Amino acid sequence: MKMSLNSYVYHEEQTGILPRAKGLCCRRVTKTKILGLLVLVGIGLFLLTISGPHYDMNQKMESGSRRRILPKITDYMDPVDKAKFGSVGNNRLDRGNIQNNIPFHKKRDYRQRLPTCLIIGVKKAGTGAMVQYLKLHPDIVVADRELNFFDYERNYNLGFDYYKTLMPMSYEGQITMEKTSNYFHNKETEWRVHSMNSSMKMILLVREPIARAVSDYLQRKLKDKDTMDLQPTFEELIIRPKNGKINEGYPGIRPSFYYKHMVRWLKYFPLTQFHIVDGDNLVRNPYEEMFAVENFLGLPHLITRDRFVFSEKKGFYCMSLDGVNGTRQEQCLSKGKGRKHPDIDEGVMEMLTDLFRPLNQQFYKLIGRKFDW
Ligand code: A3P
Repeated sequence: MKMSLNSYVYHEEQTGILPRAKGLCCRRVTKTKILGLLVLVGIGLFLLTISGPHYDMNQKMESGSRRRILPKITDYMDPVDKAKFGSVGNNRLDRGNIQNNIPFHKKRDYRQRLPTCLIIGVKKAGTGAMVQYLKLHPDIVVADRELNFFDYERNYNLGFDYYKTLMPMSYEGQITMEKTSNYFHNKETEWRVHSMNSSMKMILLVREPIARAVSDYLQRKLKDKDTMDLQPTFEELIIRPKNGKINEGYPGIRPSFYYKHMVRWLKYFPLTQFHIVDGDNLVRNPYEEMFAVENFLGLPHLITRDRFVFSEKKGFYCMSLDGVNGTRQEQCLSKGKGRKHPDIDEGVMEMLTDLFRPLNQQFYKLIGRKFDW
């Protein structure tokens, strides 16, 4: 119920508290006592207001305004989204609208929670797209940046309570998630995740390992730059000049050794706690991959096919998001996602194919599933 301070006074009059005060007056109580009583009633009303059922302790008083009792849509969004999208009605995409679809009776126990599902990688296999697509589901909330909690000892040592403070707000029943694409290939991560929650669910995206390594190289070279300054070249970094062999120590290639990393994770978690996403198919058919993710998480299928619109300009699928007044607006991933890859020397390609072939086969055996690479 929306109530201003004034309406609380009205409400109290209706419920008879003030009439009882009037009754006291009729028993010839002194003016000082009446004043004292009114002050007490005022304090009581004030306390009632701040502890009312809709009041969220995280809400702040808006400058110069009365206390807001009902939360705004932006209150459902985490601070980064809030900053990015501003308040509703200002013609920007209303990312909070997904949360609006939650029935009122489900909007309970709004607070930060530890994640129960992690997107652990692998970097450059479509993890950014995965996060954006997951956000289309009203039962999912995802931390808005990579937190590197389990792969950085310093962060992990800050403890799980600290980690929780970095999580977005969620309602009871919503799944909280975090994505750090370095988790999969960094040692130590798996036991640290296990130490927090042995029932953790893991989403792992994989992609043809050579294309992934090239993508990793481009990311390292270009980051957010517009230039195409590719010096030294991929070939120069991936081949050791001394012996002409593959430099397996090049950091851009390490995440592609899926078999080695998966063996480590499976020492701590059963395969059933992983969902492996075909990153190449996520590019071609995002709906199909997200349908499988919804299955894995035991969620109703609410990420509908019409949310994905192919953009000729971008050359990738973009999302169709709800705008204001029932409109839809297209949102593509940032320019750092979906880069044009350089042609790679044929000899180097052959060497890499030979290196990865047996590892890929072992990976398929380990997970009981084949890919076309
Ligand atoms: P490229 O830039 O090499 O094409 P990550 O988010 O893990 O860094 O992965 C980036 C990769 O996501 C991109 O690699 C691209 O292939 C893939 N991707 C998947 N869906 C995409 C989409 N809708 N838009 C852009 N890139 C997408």
